[in-house]
Order: sequence, then C-alpha cells, then structure tokens
Amino acid sequence: MRLLFLGDIVGRTGRNAVIERLPGLIDRYKLDFVVINGENAAGGFGITEEIVRDVLDAGADVITTGNHAFDQREALVFAERQPQFLRPVNYPLGTPGRGANLFVARNGARVLVVNAMGRIYMDALDDPFAAIDREVSACPLGEQADAIVIDFHAEATSEKQAIGHHLDGRVTLVVGTHTHVPTSDCRVLPGGTAYQSDAGMCGDYDSVLGMEKEEPVRRFLTKVPSGRFQPSGGPATLCGLAVEVDDTTGLARAVSPLAIGGVLEERLPTFWG
Ligand SMILES: [Fe+2]
Ligand SMILES: [Fe+2]
Repeated sequence: MRLLFLGDIVGRTGRNAVIERLPGLIDRYKLDFVVINGENAAGGFGITEEIVRDVLDAGADVITTGNHAFDQREALVFAERQPQFLRPVNYPLGTPGRGANLFVARNGARVLVVNAMGRIYMDALDDPFAAIDREVSACPLGEQADAIVIDFHAEATSEKQAIGHHLDGRVTLVVGTHTHVPTSDCRVLPGGTAYQSDAGMCGDYDSVLGMEKEEPVRRFLTKVPSGRFQPSGGPATLCGLAVEVDDTTGLARAVSPLAIGGVLEERLPTFWG
C-alpha cells in the first residue's frame, strides 16, 4: 500500500499547489491513501468548509489540523458533520469534531488516522500519549486497522521523538507537523514505524514559516507589531513523506521525504520508480 502525507497547507499558494499537483501525484505513484494537514489553509489561520471540499476533491482522504483547527469559526460547525476533518484528539471533552477516524483506502485497506497535539510550548491539553494509546488500542494494527497514521502536531522535537518511540511497532507512521520546516531524520524505526519529526509545510519557503517575512523580522527587531501576518504568495513547495506499507504487517517497508516545487531542493521517493 502506498501512503502520502503532506504537511500544513499555508495560504492560497499552498492550497493551489495541492489542488494542482495532488491529482498528478496520485496518478503517477498510484497512491492508495493521502493525509494532509490543513490547519493554515485559510489565509494562514484555520480552514473553511469550502477549502476542505477543494482539498478532498483534489484527492486527499483526510485533513488533519492542530492548534489552528478552529481559527475559522465555521469549523466549529462543519467539524461535526465532516468525518474526513480531524482536530487534535486530546482537546477537552465537548470540543466539536473528532480526533481520530477509520477510513477505507483506494486499495480497500482500513486506515486509522489519529491527530494529536503536543503539550511542550503549546496549549495545556490532555495527555497526548494516553489519548493516542486509547485510539490505537481500540483499533489495533493487524486487527481492526490495516494501517495507522499519527499526525503529532507539536513544537518540541523531544516530545515528537518520544511519541515516535512510544508507538514504534504499533503504528505505520508517526509524523510531526506544526513547525513547517521539514526535518532530515526520516527513517523506519527499529519496530517498523515510519517516522519524521516534522513533515514541513505546503507553502512558500521564501518566508518565515509560510508568512511574508517582513513583519516577523520587524517584530523580532523591535517587539512592536506593525502589521498583520499574511501568507507569503510565492511558489509553494509541497512537503511531506511517502510511505511504502507492508500489506501483511501494516508496518512501514520504506519511507522517503518528498519536496516538490518552490525554492526547496526537489526530493522524490525512489522506491516507487
Ligand atoms: Fe501549521
Ligand atoms: Fe500549528
């Protein structure tokens, strides 16, 4: 089974890159399942229902989020009725929407996707380790699920690495999101779980985390806000990972970073030809 994960979509340029390039990628690599983090898709802050629909229409199977999940207030409503939209699973009880769901991939495989948020330098949420454990033990790999994808939306690489090792051997992929910068630690862990501390973003890298660079630089220089953060509009890089899943175990046979377009050096999975 062939799985693609793409990091946080940032603004219009990120959205357009996904919408324009994803159908071709699905076709070229015969992708069975696609997960994309969409938390910054609407002007850098949250995601609207219309964008959710556009990204799903382009071929995504699931849209995950993070701390920006509800920046667009309409998400409080559509989160309830859109099963392909996930917000962090460790939000307090009563938060609209869901943080995990079971999907059927194009090859018929049952894929559990869990979105969780870290707690280091982030909002104080419920324990993400316990929350993910609950979801994974309710739908274990090789029993109710043929593959399991964890989008761990977190700031600290220590917390991300810890969650990766904690889940190694029990899930297909643990991938970090939120920092928007792809890390170079992509590998299959000893137990067979594919791992990368951060997937990077789908956005313009000639920026500060996808935002026009002038205002963030000014704020570091003076500590006085003098404008709003606006998504940077240059050509976007699609950043993420490609995972070749072993169909008998549901674990990762191979994983590769992926970067297409924009100012970053291109990286494509070699194992799919
Ligand atoms: Fe983000
Ligand atoms: Fe985030």
